[in-house]
Amino acid sequence: MENYNYRVVKQFAIATVLWGVVGMLVGVVIAAQLAWPALNFDIPWLTYGRLRPLHTNAVIFAFGVSGLFATSYYVVQRTCQVRLFSDKLASFTFWGWQAVIISAVFTLPAGLTRGKEYAELEWPITLLIAVVWVAYAITYFGTIIKRRVQHIYVANWFFGGFILAVTLLHVVNGMSMPATLWKSYSMYTGVQDAMIQWWYGHNAVGFILTAGYLGMVYYFIPKQANRPVYSYRLSIVHFWALIFTYMWAGPHHLHYTALPDWTQSLGMVFSLILLAPSWGGMINGMMTLSGAWHKLRTDPILKFMIVSLSFYGMATFEGPMMSIKTVNALSHYTDWGIAHVHGGALGWVGFITMGSIYYLLPRLAGRKEMWSMQLVDVHFWVATIGIVLYIAAMWIAGVMQGLMWRAVNPDGTLTYTFVEGVKATYPYYVVRFLGGTLYLSGMCVMAYNTWMTLRGQKTPEARIPELKAA
Ligand code: HEM
Ligand code: HEM
Repeated sequence: MENYNYRVVKQFAIATVLWGVVGMLVGVVIAAQLAWPALNFDIPWLTYGRLRPLHTNAVIFAFGVSGLFATSYYVVQRTCQVRLFSDKLASFTFWGWQAVIISAVFTLPAGLTRGKEYAELEWPITLLIAVVWVAYAITYFGTIIKRRVQHIYVANWFFGGFILAVTLLHVVNGMSMPATLWKSYSMYTGVQDAMIQWWYGHNAVGFILTAGYLGMVYYFIPKQANRPVYSYRLSIVHFWALIFTYMWAGPHHLHYTALPDWTQSLGMVFSLILLAPSWGGMINGMMTLSGAWHKLRTDPILKFMIVSLSFYGMATFEGPMMSIKTVNALSHYTDWGIAHVHGGALGWVGFITMGSIYYLLPRLAGRKEMWSMQLVDVHFWVATIGIVLYIAAMWIAGVMQGLMWRAVNPDGTLTYTFVEGVKATYPYYVVRFLGGTLYLSGMCVMAYNTWMTLRGQKTPEARIPELKAA
């Protein structure tokens, strides 16, 4: 028996790549629909309203969380120096999670939804998620309990925090009363429902889209750079400050709503405080490269990781600014929000996942490196240009929309009709579609490289002497 369970890591790594292609493809389709609405062909399950949640679920829960499963299972085994607590439970988490994803693929286009953003899946699937998650927690923490080293490395704190927080968020926000097999109603009503939803929603950002990926930062960046973490002490402060602060920031999603005013201000203040631990963590990750900056010239995997941290820094500066009520009065409802989301999603979440999976794949295939490092570099550049096009287009569109909507004539009437704002946005939607297509192409290049790496093909570089001999 192998010392470590790499089988489940490999399964989740492959799932990450495949679901990445699918989720981003759906993203490109909905981006195209916003520019050319006729692309829904009047088929109900192809309409924007049904495909949009399919996109968010596929990229966050299928691509993003599969990446977190793969890396957390790898990291916990390597840093605790023991095999996973239970191979059977680990395998159950893989197949159970795939079942959740497949159910989403069928139910969301069919229009079956709880209507809560990022928690759309109807109650039978929500229950399945809870069971798989408990199995994940037992496997993960069971491994930590039977560890052979006394110290629990900081990456495990972040992964552990993510697993525990998601359990709490999912259970509380998932409380609903089933009416039929495929319809349920939230247990909460009115403003309480909204508040619970965005307490969940923002902590989904904080714990799924942030804490888990910071686990990747603290393991894979030092490994790839071959340098210790810049400041271990800072990493611990980072962890506690981050998890304490995130929990209170949710109301910034509900500015100027029926939510009591003081809760909105509380959300704003905690969001502003959040800048400090976020940047502390970003700087800690960046400074880990001290003395190894030259590696960025030649190592495309490290490029993914460091550029990812830059986007993390950008999103965690932009977020606190957008949480200021007067700024939010302009940005809310506009594409500025979409720019912020995708700076974080494509730049931070996407790039750190891709970098970490590129680190893992050759090791899982028992090789020195990916089938083609040149293709990793191509992926990096194509995706980077894609992100820049996507977010720059959405920033300009967002600020323009906000300004057009609030413009008034001297007699108090609105300067622009709503449809004039939509017309003005059209070119930016086309640019976003192009940027998204580039990002998706990069993911397809990764899928091809993954396939060749796992098939055990020799690298093109390694084949040169053979070809010469022939
Ligand atoms: C090829 C890449 C992608 C494209 C073209 C794309 C496109 C889109 C589009 C068109 C929307 C709807 C925007 C709107 O309603 O105005 C959207 C929403 C969203 N996408 Fe993506 N996306 C991509 C990748 C990703 C990735 C990798 C993630 C996460 C890891 C992500 C997370 C989200 C989220 C969370 C939303 C909802 C935002 C909100 O409600 O404010 N996307 N995406
Ligand atoms: C200090 C950290 C951050 C703060 C304070 C913050 C703050 C905000 C604010 C104020 C909004 C707009 C709410 C609205 O007007 O509706 C927002 C939306 C969003 N942010 Fe952040 N953000 C942070 C980091 C991030 C990161 C790293 C990501 C990773 C992808 C992210 C993902 C999102 C998503 C998905 C939404 C859209 C939610 C929705 O309406 O569906 N944020 N954030």
